[in-house]
Amino acid sequence: MREKRGRAGVGKASGPGLYAAAASVLSGLEQRSGSLKALVYGSRFPGPRLLLALVSETLRFGPVLEALLEASGLLRAEKKLPPHLAKVLAYDLLFGKGLRGGGPWKAPLLKHRARLQAELARLKVRRGVSRDEDLLPPPAGGGGNGTLPRYVRVNTIKTRFDDAVDYFKRQGFVYQGRASPEMKGVASLSGKTFLLDPHLPGVLIFPPGTDLHEDQLYKAGHVILQDKASCLPAFLLNPTPGSHVLDACAAPGNKTSHLAAIMGNKGRIFAFDLDAKRLATMSTMLARAGVTCHNLAHQDFLATDPGDPKYSHVEYILLDPSCSGSGIVGRLPYEEEERMDAQRLQALAGFQRRMLGHALKFPALRRLVYSTCSLHQEENEEVVRDVLEQHGRDFRLVEALPSWTPRGLGVFAEAKCCLRASPKETLTNGFFVAVMERRQAETEDQSSLTVLPETGSQGGADKPSKKKKKKQKLC
Ligand SMILES: C[S@@+](CC[C@H](N)C(=O)[O-])C[C@H]1O[C@@H](n2cnc3c(N)ncnc32)[C@H](O)[C@@H]1O
Repeated sequence: MREKRGRAGVGKASGPGLYAAAASVLSGLEQRSGSLKALVYGSRFPGPRLLLALVSETLRFGPVLEALLEASGLLRAEKKLPPHLAKVLAYDLLFGKGLRGGGPWKAPLLKHRARLQAELARLKVRRGVSRDEDLLPPPAGGGGNGTLPRYVRVNTIKTRFDDAVDYFKRQGFVYQGRASPEMKGVASLSGKTFLLDPHLPGVLIFPPGTDLHEDQLYKAGHVILQDKASCLPAFLLNPTPGSHVLDACAAPGNKTSHLAAIMGNKGRIFAFDLDAKRLATMSTMLARAGVTCHNLAHQDFLATDPGDPKYSHVEYILLDPSCSGSGIVGRLPYEEEERMDAQRLQALAGFQRRMLGHALKFPALRRLVYSTCSLHQEENEEVVRDVLEQHGRDFRLVEALPSWTPRGLGVFAEAKCCLRASPKETLTNGFFVAVMERRQAETEDQSSLTVLPETGSQGGADKPSKKKKKKQKLC
């Protein structure tokens, strides 16, 4: 049964155990030692749903609480009060039902209550709002990823990168060159300006909310409106022109068209999907993008026979299976946690493990990329770990884009080889990518296996770097 929620969320928050457990979950999240749900259920606190609600609400009010703690000087006055605990207590004091418990920290907190309340009132006046909820940032997304930059991938099958840049300049946009690797200033990009993405060449960054759906270049398939994180899988798979590639869960096909562009539209992409409607959309989309090197099949990937001679040259597989979608901006993390119960998550993870295990059976496979738009480690690191336990003799992880900062959660030793993306850290949707390679590729002739791309390859404003035949860093 659900615990009753209070005015702004949590109802029966009580007891020092609850506050200490909530503070410990917040600290675990900061150290990236697990997902919210994993930390809550791993905490052994007897009321996990209550704990989840308290932490989620504290996170939701996080920036407001930080501002109030700073303005009130609470942490400066109470030097031994751990900051995460202060946040949880301040949340319950100001936005929940008031402190009922709090152990040794109850009295000091109550001593500062008047000051905290005064700072809250002041903040509301400054922001011109009357309700607590109005202090929260507006929900991102609204169907258009309102707070994320608009990423635009230049479709090199149809146009040259420089021509696309010139086109946007002619439309009155000011080109500001390549963004810094830290993406400094990108979050506040505004007006008619655009930048070149520092990690993914051929990807342009426009201010959030830039609507290019009516733009001629988009309508003609010369550019694709695609989140940057979703460009990572094809970029990292990096199939060579002329090779055979399998896209196991392909529709609606943005990653397929990206693969085709990287391959110079030469070779073969076997693209499967279970959903006929999505495949129909994909077919139109690929036609618009000028992709011709694909075979679309309305088929269950699990029912494909890896031993079928037509797949005997498949060296690259992109596996982007159905997932919880919890990384998609526009959903609040705790809403997602509530929607996605443990059973559904386990079912999804089981499906993802089967798909990944099946993909690794293709005899000529040399490199595979596994990706999801999920934040749950159950669908990400844990799937990779479990499947590698079975197939680790033949396949291993490769360190994907070492310069990319958010790495896989430390669920197993090599998880740092994987990469993650998030609105906060990378200004993209939440995403996970793992790159695997067949072990024998390390020692055998690597003539058909190029290295993973580094920033600067595959086109862009700078000259594409030559594909080097150097050894890949394996995990
Ligand atoms: C995350 S979406 C793929 C998005 C796609 N890669 C893109 O970039 O546009 C997952 C897709 O997997 C498909 N799918 C689910 N189970 C499948 C299966 N057993 N075989 C093939 N496709 C499947 C779903 O219909 C859905 O279109």
